[in-house]
Amino acid sequence: MIMIATAVVGVFVFCLFFVWYRKPNNFPPGPRGFPLVGVAPFLGKFPEKTLAKYGEKYGNVISIRLGPKPCVVLNDLEAVTEALVKQGESFSGRPHNAIISELSQDYGITFIDSGDLWKTQRKFGLATLKKLGVGKQSMELTINEQISILMNKFKALNGKPFEFKEMIRKCFANSTCVVLMGCGYPYDHPTFEAILSNLPEGLAAVTIPFLRHFPPFRKPYQRVLKKVETLRGIIKDVVEEHKVAFNHENVRDFIDYYLIEMKTNREGFKEEQLHQYIMDLLVGGIDSSVASIGWGVISLIHNPGIQEKLRKEIDQVIGDCSPSMSHEQDMPYMRAFIQENHRFKTLAELNVPHCTKNRVKIFGYEIPKGTMIFTNIWNVHNDSRVWKNPEIFNPERHLDENGKFVKSSHVIPFAVGYRSCIGKILAKFTLFLFFTNFLQKFVVLADPHDQLPSYDKDPKSTFSSPYPYPVIVKER
Ligand code: HEM
Repeated sequence: MIMIATAVVGVFVFCLFFVWYRKPNNFPPGPRGFPLVGVAPFLGKFPEKTLAKYGEKYGNVISIRLGPKPCVVLNDLEAVTEALVKQGESFSGRPHNAIISELSQDYGITFIDSGDLWKTQRKFGLATLKKLGVGKQSMELTINEQISILMNKFKALNGKPFEFKEMIRKCFANSTCVVLMGCGYPYDHPTFEAILSNLPEGLAAVTIPFLRHFPPFRKPYQRVLKKVETLRGIIKDVVEEHKVAFNHENVRDFIDYYLIEMKTNREGFKEEQLHQYIMDLLVGGIDSSVASIGWGVISLIHNPGIQEKLRKEIDQVIGDCSPSMSHEQDMPYMRAFIQENHRFKTLAELNVPHCTKNRVKIFGYEIPKGTMIFTNIWNVHNDSRVWKNPEIFNPERHLDENGKFVKSSHVIPFAVGYRSCIGKILAKFTLFLFFTNFLQKFVVLADPHDQLPSYDKDPKSTFSSPYPYPVIVKER
């Protein structure tokens, strides 16, 4: 009896091992890791760096097992362009993931699979952001208005140390709220504080969803779920207020434009979809800009010489005028600084995962429909074939011998192709207007009672973001 049981268990384990070990035909090469968890235990604190190392051994398109499923990693710009741009439609899906489904209820834009619903929602989103002034002077005024409130707060601090990230978060949350909801809030408004404290953080268990049921992943998952439900409740209330105040003659914001589509019963435009869409824009829009500015200010503190050069350029080009996007053309050093900031600290190191919509061929390999795809944006930004000493922050690398700015196709913080970021222009305006306004008026220093702020990333954030850090800003 014991022998039969042992044989049955043995056959079962063998089958499990066989199923796990088997690769689809002509699948890209790569490490297999352990049954059930794949390479997850080997990825370490910096999965993007480990995957880049695998790339050195196996090539620019590699396969890994993460959990029970085979996945593919695009490890350099050539592979990223081939997949996300040249074969963009085939690579535009989003993988089905139990955690994401529970959190997003399969609505919104960021996590829904590409198809008719995603296409109409994305088209609507891009067109509406444009109608609301994104990319135009009216948006510039909105952002500058919020930045000017922030600058006055800096001034009032009179050289006292303060926590930088939390302060700027309020400013950029407000400019996002103006676009989406039509109003900015006083910084201590309860709704505003509730929005900010309930923006969900990143989840370690997201790539292997069953882990959410077990410690140590269960508690963080429950916390994020609660935050998402609270945030959804706040958004529902804001939408209800919009319905009551709606006026066809005065369409104010993203929600109003969405309500118009709902009134015509346009397919796919319904209330749950609107709630999650706003949530996706708040989550995608606020902490990304805050993280990028947060890293940039750390680099300014670490490199006072770069700060000085930027101020000199601001004095020459803008003087005492109000900074505007029209100044950008004449500011090669500022553009180089911002491009280097995007390169040096990649916010979405492995991008939001994609998934193949059909069977695809790439560089002779075959990838079945439904395979999860990671884009190693970090490795594009740190590829030593392209970047000399990539670990050094150096804006000069983006200037030619005449001091002209060189836009690089190897800097892709917003990803590329069908699913690339829809808030790219808004983010571009925000970063440029923040750094020009800030350095026109202030010098930023580390708190002398503290260490220099660290380049380590805070594991709690959705995007790669610094830990909170204190600074001193002194008026020039
Ligand atoms: C520095 C700032 C930002 C960075 C680095 C960034 C980066 C990204 C990346 C890497 C993606 C995934 C692209 C892909 O799946 O291939 C993405 C998607 C997205 N971003 Fe951003 N983003 C930023 C700012 C914003 C802002 C300001 C908004 C909106 C207000 C926004 C809204 C979105 C949305 C809705 C998506 C999903 C698009 C889709 O799935 O079709 N992002 N972003």
